[in-house]
Amino acid sequence: MDTLILNENEADKAAEIIKSGGVVGIPTETVYGLAANAFDPNAIKKIFLAKGRPADNPLIVHISKTEDVFKVVSEFNKKAEILAKNFWPGPLTMILPKNKQVPKIVTAGADSVAVRFPSHVVARKIIELSGVPLVAPSANLSGKPSTTRFSHVLEDLNGKVDAIINGGDCKFGVESTVISLLESTPRILRPGAITPEQIEKVIGKIKIDDSVFHKIEKDKSVLSPGIKYKHYSPDAEVIILKGEKEDYADFVNKTNIKRNDVLALCFDEDIPLIDAPYISYGSKKDSLSQAHNIFDGLRKADKMGAKAVYVHYCDTDGLSLAVYNRLIRAAGFKIIDLKNKT
Ligand code: TXA
Ligand code: MG
Repeated sequence: MDTLILNENEADKAAEIIKSGGVVGIPTETVYGLAANAFDPNAIKKIFLAKGRPADNPLIVHISKTEDVFKVVSEFNKKAEILAKNFWPGPLTMILPKNKQVPKIVTAGADSVAVRFPSHVVARKIIELSGVPLVAPSANLSGKPSTTRFSHVLEDLNGKVDAIINGGDCKFGVESTVISLLESTPRILRPGAITPEQIEKVIGKIKIDDSVFHKIEKDKSVLSPGIKYKHYSPDAEVIILKGEKEDYADFVNKTNIKRNDVLALCFDEDIPLIDAPYISYGSKKDSLSQAHNIFDGLRKADKMGAKAVYVHYCDTDGLSLAVYNRLIRAAGFKIIDLKNKT
C-alpha cells in the first residue's frame, strides 16, 4: 500500500481518511499514535494488523473535549472529574466503565475503556474534524520502542498504513500515564508524564500497580493487558547498570574491550569517561530530556550495530519513574547493581 505523507496543516485530509475507514499515524504530545474511528471495528482491525498487535491488548480512545467522554463511558465519578479538570487536555489516560456503544475490539472484551484527551493541537484537530472519538495505540510495530520522531513512524509503518502526518518530535517522549478509576483507591497501571506526585496532590492517596516495577508471572491475570508483552525492545540486548559514573564507565569500557560490540546509553555527565560507542539520553538531572530521548536512543542503538546496550540507571521518582519503567521492560528486567557485584 502507498502511504500518503501529510504535513501538520493537513488535519482535514487525515480526518477524511479516518472517516472513510482508514488509519493514520498522528503526532501527539506523548508519542505518535496510529488513529482510526473508535466505532468502526473494520478500521480498528487494520491497526492490529499494521502493528502486529495481539488482539487481547485493548486500545485507548482519544477525545477532543471532556464532555465527549460520555460517548464511551457509562460512569464518570468525582475523582475522574477532578483529574480531567487538572490534567486534560494532556498525557493522562483514565480507565472507566465502558458504555454499550464501544465495540468489543477496542477493549479486548473488557467492561472498561481507556480514555484520553490529548493536548497536541494537530491531534485534537483531527479528532474534532473526524467527528468521532479515535482509538490510537502507539504508532510502532508491536514490541518495538514507541515512535517519538517522524522518522521512527516511517521506519515501522511506511507502506502499512493509509497516511502519516509529519509532526516533528513529540514533546514528552513517553506514553501517557494510565490510571484505573475502577477501584475506590485509583491505581496507576502505567507511569507517564503526569506523575504520581501530581495526581496525589489533587485526588489524595493512589496505588501504583506492582507491574510498574516488577515482572509479572506469565499466567497471572493483569489489570492492563499491555503489561505482559515484550516491550520497547531494540534488536540488541539491553542491560541496566546501577552505580556511580566511574563504575558504570569502567564496566562498559572493560566489556567493550572484550567484545567490541557494546554501546553505552548514558547520561551527559558520563561521556568524558566512556571509551566505547555511546548515545546520551540527557543529563542525569534532567528527566524531561531523558523521557524525550529514550526511545530514540534505543532505536539508534540498533542502527549503530550494537549487540549489547548498557543503560545507566535513572532515578525512579517524578517523570523518571516513566523512563525507568520503559527501560526495565526494554531490558527484560535485567539490572546489574555495580556496588553489590562480586
Ligand atoms: O500516550 C499514549 O497513551 C499513546 C498516544 C498515542 O496517545 N497511546 C498509547 O497506546 O500508548 P498503547 O496502545 O500503546 O498503550 C495503551 C495501554 C496498553 O498498555 C493497554 O493494555 C492499556 O493502555 N489499556 C488500554 N485499555 C485498557 C483497559 N480497558 N484496561 C486496562 N488497560 C488498558
Ligand atoms: Mg504501545
